[in-house]
Amino acid sequence: MTPLDRPSLTSTQFKKFADFIYDISGIRFQEAKNYFLASKLDMRKKDLNMSSLDEYYNFIIRQPKMSREIELLLNEITINETFFYRNTAQLDSYNKDILMDIIAQKRAKGDKRLRIWSAASSTGDEAYTLIMDMLEKNLHREFTIEIVGTDISQKALGVAKEGVYKKYAIRNIPPHLLRKHFTILDEHNYKLSDEIKRYGTFKHCNLSDAMNCRALGKFDIVFCRNVLIYFDRESREQVLTNIYNNMNDNAFLLVGHSENLYAERHLFEICKDKLQALAYKKAPKGTEKARV
Ligand SMILES: C[S@@+](CC[C@H](N)C(=O)[O-])C[C@H]1O[C@@H](n2cnc3c(N)ncnc32)[C@H](O)[C@@H]1O
Repeated sequence: MTPLDRPSLTSTQFKKFADFIYDISGIRFQEAKNYFLASKLDMRKKDLNMSSLDEYYNFIIRQPKMSREIELLLNEITINETFFYRNTAQLDSYNKDILMDIIAQKRAKGDKRLRIWSAASSTGDEAYTLIMDMLEKNLHREFTIEIVGTDISQKALGVAKEGVYKKYAIRNIPPHLLRKHFTILDEHNYKLSDEIKRYGTFKHCNLSDAMNCRALGKFDIVFCRNVLIYFDRESREQVLTNIYNNMNDNAFLLVGHSENLYAERHLFEICKDKLQALAYKKAPKGTEKARV
């Protein structure tokens, strides 16, 4: 396809679609993503045998939020890039400083339940990475472990539930864990063992929807990595407030290496002694008064 026949949106069309997508997901598309968005919308238009993007727009705005077409649109426009053991430096620090800190607190209180949320889990690679590491530490013998992965893309969640991965996704898994927990299906596909899968639960959740998030309950540790970049300031604030409300008082929130929560310091403060883990805790009570 040459640049000339690449689908693109007029600025009016772009604004209409971008505002609509923002309403249903909190994801804010900037004009620079015109071609990307246009090509995704064009695929939906063609699938539905529609003659123009305007026709598709008039159709999509009439669909209920939980409709199949909204689901297909969100599957198309989300970027689901992820892989197992994605940031090993952060993971090492999490295993040493964060997880063991929470475990020590639980042991002191006699609390046997451990809940971790992989928010924006995509295909589950992050959630299953955490489970593999926990099983290596035998924590499943001492605690009732629940790792909840959530995403707005039903397609990504389908992969997570099935547990079949391509070589690209598993390339960073330490070889002994790969041998232990995966079987080779064919040249391209690897299947994760049921032993790991049974500790993971995958659910649909729009992070900018307070009710969706509240239904998940409270967590001890939340991973929310490589998704905040898709939100604008307002939807980021909403997403981080939702996450805040789902965290126990001593819980940790871990973000991606290019993300920081300075703009949300009324909600979260960085754990200065755990910088490598990119970990935050709830800001001390009273800080919320500084909310802007
Ligand atoms: C780049 S992936 C990050 C996956 C994983 N957290 C990681 O760091 O490897 C971003 C994910 O965020 C999801 N996402 C985008 N907007 C969302 C929203 N409003 N609610 C929930 N998930 C969302 C996308 O579907 C996608 O799977």
